[in-house]
Amino acid sequence: MRLSQPVLDRKELKAVRRVLKSEFLGMGKEVSEFEALLSDYFSNQVLCVNTGTSALQLALSAAGVGAGDEVLVPSLTYVATYQAISAIGAIPVSCDVQINDLQIDIVDAGNRLTSKTRAVVPVYFSGATTCLERVEKFSFENGLINIPDAAHALGSMNEGKLIGSGQGTNVFSLDGIKNITSGEGGLIVSSDPEVIQNAKDARLLGVIGDSSRRASRERSWDFDVRDQGWRFHMSDVFAAIGKVQLSKLENFARIRKAHFSYYSELLAEIPEVTLFDWDINDGMVPHVFVIRIPGMTSRESLRSKLLAENIPTGIHYKPNHLLSFYKNLDAAPLVATDQVFPEILTLPLHTKLTKSQISDVTMKLRKNLAHAFE
Ligand SMILES: Cc1ncc(COP(=O)(O)O)c(C=O)c1O
Repeated sequence: MRLSQPVLDRKELKAVRRVLKSEFLGMGKEVSEFEALLSDYFSNQVLCVNTGTSALQLALSAAGVGAGDEVLVPSLTYVATYQAISAIGAIPVSCDVQINDLQIDIVDAGNRLTSKTRAVVPVYFSGATTCLERVEKFSFENGLINIPDAAHALGSMNEGKLIGSGQGTNVFSLDGIKNITSGEGGLIVSSDPEVIQNAKDARLLGVIGDSSRRASRERSWDFDVRDQGWRFHMSDVFAAIGKVQLSKLENFARIRKAHFSYYSELLAEIPEVTLFDWDINDGMVPHVFVIRIPGMTSRESLRSKLLAENIPTGIHYKPNHLLSFYKNLDAAPLVATDQVFPEILTLPLHTKLTKSQISDVTMKLRKNLAHAFE
């Protein structure tokens, strides 16, 4: 059993073979076709890039965030969110999360506002978007740029609206274990033509207009560059995988939701386990299945007992304010994050998992729970 994994079949293999046979592996026709499909899906403009991390870096930069700007971000996220912010010289300011749903605590974020605060990056942890409305209001009232890290949230809905389909900018990841994959990949989805235009040039070394030319297999020989750019474009090989996976998203989302329900039903009978306030009926497509074991003192002992019984587990995530590079000893403590971090545990969730494997996981968790409190 695996904690997470991509699910691929002959269709992806055929698509990759088609691109290899074309002997055109860079960014071309496949990427522009993938972008067109994604634009239809989101009813918004979409740019494909090489990773979710670079999608966030490019989107922030394209929206005007730069060196010395402070960006409010929950500490409980993958380090990718932080690296994307610091890569452009901006300063990630660690914020607390709400202990019930692991979404950014907006009151705590408000206490960390300074004259340098320029943006907020909420994280739609596991595809939950319960902070969306609060963050929109907060960013509007404080004149901040709001770019949600929706790496986990492809396919998720909020109030009946697909994440990425409204106003503003969202970024997604298509890495190997996300809701769908392109091998590696990231998406900038935006209603803002300026963000799209800036990021479009920046993803290809800042060469003006090069992105559009490559869609018809042309290149720019005589060109200008007006800004810093990066080599962040997506390759046709990855776009070909992404196109097939996009057609499977609805089915994958259905399976993920069914697994989430089944886990929730079984775990409700284990009093030591607390589930987060995430509701798949609200439109969330669950990406990782994280549980909380309040008072857990020995997570590693529990994890190694489970692994010995072929149950891999994970930890989403080590908070960034504990990492040497992002530590700020002068900052106010992150009370909920520090409390919840030792108590979280991620159980296997992917679309190849079966119902009987989920019962096996919960049965073995129950059997080994005493090891969590050694
Ligand atoms: C919350 C979060 N943000 C950003 C990323 C970055 O995505 P990628 O791996 O595509 O760079 C990830 C991926 O693991 C993630 O989980």
